[in-house]
This record gives sequence, structure tokens and C-alpha cells, in this order.
Amino acid sequence: MRIENHPILEFKRTKKVKFYFDGKEVWGYEGESIAAALHALGIWEYREGLKTKRPRGLFCAIGHCSSCLMEVNGVPNTRICVTPVKEGIIVKKQLPKGDLVEKL
Ligand code: FES
Repeated sequence: MRIENHPILEFKRTKKVKFYFDGKEVWGYEGESIAAALHALGIWEYREGLKTKRPRGLFCAIGHCSSCLMEVNGVPNTRICVTPVKEGIIVKKQLPKGDLVEKL
């Protein structure tokens, strides 16, 4: 759900772009955070906790914790609350630690 109209705030919407979340095509506004786009689509689970295995979602939403770490275009441990949506990016849930795609 997105707030479209607000009595005192103004939302400048940019171009709608497609990207992929766990293999499904989803969309967001270019430049908004990946977390904002997923949250607006009702997707609130981004990974699971290392020890508890419980689902994790947004916590700080300003890039200061590690609650929203996901794999973005093959890069693990990306904080999606501060990573902008771009056309065609591939976002995957991280279970539970992010591994590098190619081992060194
Ligand atoms: S929710 Fe805290 S870093 Fe993204």
C-alpha cells in the first residue's frame, strides 16, 4: 500500500520500473528504495534470522542495522532500505547468511 495523497507531504513519483523478487516480476518507482517498493507490494519478509530462523523485515529503515539484508544482483548482504530500485535488478531472499556467488 502506498500513500498517494497526503495533506502536507508531496510525493514526486518517478518512472515505474520492473525488477525481480525471488523470480517474480514486481515493480517500483525508479529511485525509491527496494524495501519501499517491496513493502508497498505487501512483501515484508526479506530474510531469516541467523540463530532464530525467524523472518526479518524492516527495522531501522535508514541503513543502520542488518535487518533487511538481501542479495541484489548477486551481491549478498545488501541493505535494501537504502538501495534504490533500478530497471531489471534481481533481488533474492538471503537464507540465512549471504554467500558470495563465486568463491574466491
Ligand atoms: S532496515 Fe536497518 S539497515 Fe535496512
